[in-house]
Amino acid sequence: MSQENNTKEIICVVGARPNFMKIAPLMAAIKKSQIINATLVHTGQHYDEAMKKSFFDQLGIPEPDVDLEVGSGSHAVQTAEIMKRFEPILDQKTPDAVLVVGDVNSTIACGLVAVKKNIPLIHVEAGLRSGDRNMPEEINRILTDQISDLLYLTEKEAKENLAKEGIAEEKIYFAGNVMIDTLKMNLPNAVSAKEIFRDNGGGRLFSGEDGSYGVMTLHRPSNVDSKEVLESLLETLTQISKELPLVFPVHPRTAARIGSYGLSDFFEQPGILKLPPAGYLQMLGLMKGAKVVLTDSGGIQEETTSLGIPCITLRDSTERPITVTEGTNTIVGSDKRKIIHTFNDVMETGGRAGNIPEFWDGKAAERIVAHIEEWFQRR
Ligand code: UD1
Repeated sequence: MSQENNTKEIICVVGARPNFMKIAPLMAAIKKSQIINATLVHTGQHYDEAMKKSFFDQLGIPEPDVDLEVGSGSHAVQTAEIMKRFEPILDQKTPDAVLVVGDVNSTIACGLVAVKKNIPLIHVEAGLRSGDRNMPEEINRILTDQISDLLYLTEKEAKENLAKEGIAEEKIYFAGNVMIDTLKMNLPNAVSAKEIFRDNGGGRLFSGEDGSYGVMTLHRPSNVDSKEVLESLLETLTQISKELPLVFPVHPRTAARIGSYGLSDFFEQPGILKLPPAGYLQMLGLMKGAKVVLTDSGGIQEETTSLGIPCITLRDSTERPITVTEGTNTIVGSDKRKIIHTFNDVMETGGRAGNIPEFWDGKAAERIVAHIEEWFQRR
């Protein structure tokens, strides 16, 4: 609710790892605002130290004002639990808007609660579409955009996706990529691969010299929740690791699946270095010095484009097409032949140099906050 001094209150929501690097520059930009005051709510979707605390510390995100501590569950249980616990916070704080980022379950859950209470919803990283409705995130993206009052784009072309879904143009604003704000700000503090390998028993194959290793990450349900797909991917990556050692920070979901499918031999391969989930500054350092990154993450496709490092995406589609048309990304799916072919190409040619997309310049959060201020003043 508007205060007497006319300050506008926004509740900013984070829930899962990829949200943290998006909220950090927004919280910093709001802190400088004369008009807006922010409260930070963490849903607790990600709760492990390695999936949460190190990001808050490294990115300088203020301690959440509220932690809903929902934890893990099926999609329905997790989404419902977030909604139940978020509603009383809105009743208590009566904000002027709720701001959500990205495409995780926390994004749609809190968005839905806000709009049902007639509280305007702001979505940062709107308009991205993979075209694959089997991805839980795709459903979250479509629904969050439908109910949002202000939609901030990371790439201009995303506007067409929203137009097709009937979203009014005046709600949409191309602001650039807040995750790249975080990357640019933190690059000078990235932890070097040499240090990470030394601290994690890297051995002879993992010297940490630039270009002497690759990075792999896997966590999408489509890759890790099927034994057949996961086994085939690990076989392919084993083959690659004989040519280029691969460092593998392992998501908890993936660690659990590798164990339960009896595939833990993968970690015994000499060219594979297993790490716990990496902190932000560690991941940045690993990517920065890599020859290539093999991943099924969304954010890493953008970060490698910004860093100019070749990215091989182990998915059939991307919601971030600019990383392919302008950046360093190649989409290959889980097919062994295609992965090896693209990997060989990177080894021979060094991969595509790529360009930095428009407004991936470190100033996206400033543009967004300035635009929200204007929007409040117009209302
Ligand atoms: C979520 C997001 C995904 C994002 C990913 C990044 C959704 C639908 N998916 O997927 O878009 O790319 O985060 O990591 O929101 N777990 C832990 N500790 C934690 C969190 C999770 O051990 O701190 C384990 C639990 O066994 C849990 C599983 O990981 O069941 C999956 O967690 P969940 O939050 O459901 O989805 P992610 O796969 O992490």
